[in-house]
Amino acid sequence: MKRWRRFYYDIFSHFYDAIIALHSRDKSASLRDFLLDRSTLAPGQDLLDICTGTGAVALRAAQKLGSEGTAVGVDFSRGMLQRARQKAAAKGIQAHFVQADVADLPFFKETFHVVTCSHAMYELTPETRNAALSEARRVLVPGGIFIMMEHMAPKQPLVRFLYNLRLASMGSSQNREFARDERPFIKPFFKEVKMEPAPGGRSKIIRGIKPVQTPL
Ligand SMILES: C[S@@+](CC[C@H](N)C(=O)[O-])C[C@H]1O[C@@H](n2cnc3c(N)ncnc32)[C@H](O)[C@@H]1O
Repeated sequence: MKRWRRFYYDIFSHFYDAIIALHSRDKSASLRDFLLDRSTLAPGQDLLDICTGTGAVALRAAQKLGSEGTAVGVDFSRGMLQRARQKAAAKGIQAHFVQADVADLPFFKETFHVVTCSHAMYELTPETRNAALSEARRVLVPGGIFIMMEHMAPKQPLVRFLYNLRLASMGSSQNREFARDERPFIKPFFKEVKMEPAPGGRSKIIRGIKPVQTPL
């Protein structure tokens, strides 16, 4: 099953950036900036972007972090990562792209200050999503920030119909519940989970904090 999903994203990688530019009308990448601003990412910190796709968030983060910090993007699609690496090389940006499954991240625990995920969690199966959230918590430092961006349910009837069709095609009613309100699914993994609409009204961000374990 995952092999087919990966194949689908490999094919999709050829058109992905063009489709996103058309759909989001976010040419200045202000949504990614909004996500990163809300993450409280600071120069010198380390950020992991899961389901990075063609690397939009990781590349923007690398520019903000400067030479002291590190931005890493993870995706299981070789095609998506190829595009991300091409963009990094073309723009002269220092970001790292790693092929891996989000359900099993190849990093030591407490490696990153921020973990981001943009417009991807709703597409994961419930099992992969739970594993990904657990992995995100594991690789975050205590007090680190998990922040994700998701679509708002579209208001325009045709777009809303297509969006619902996409959700229905994912095969789990949990995906529809998740897309309606992500917070109950995030709260088992992070504290102080909050949602806020993003500028433009088409997306929302959900943010949580990895609890600091107090010794007994
Ligand atoms: C809709 S795209 C989002 C890409 C990017 N975050 C953005 O905002 O443009 C979803 C991405 O999740 C990746 N993905 C899906 N399932 C995954 C998994 N189990 N492990 C790693 N990556 C996965 C896909 O390859 C795809 O690049």
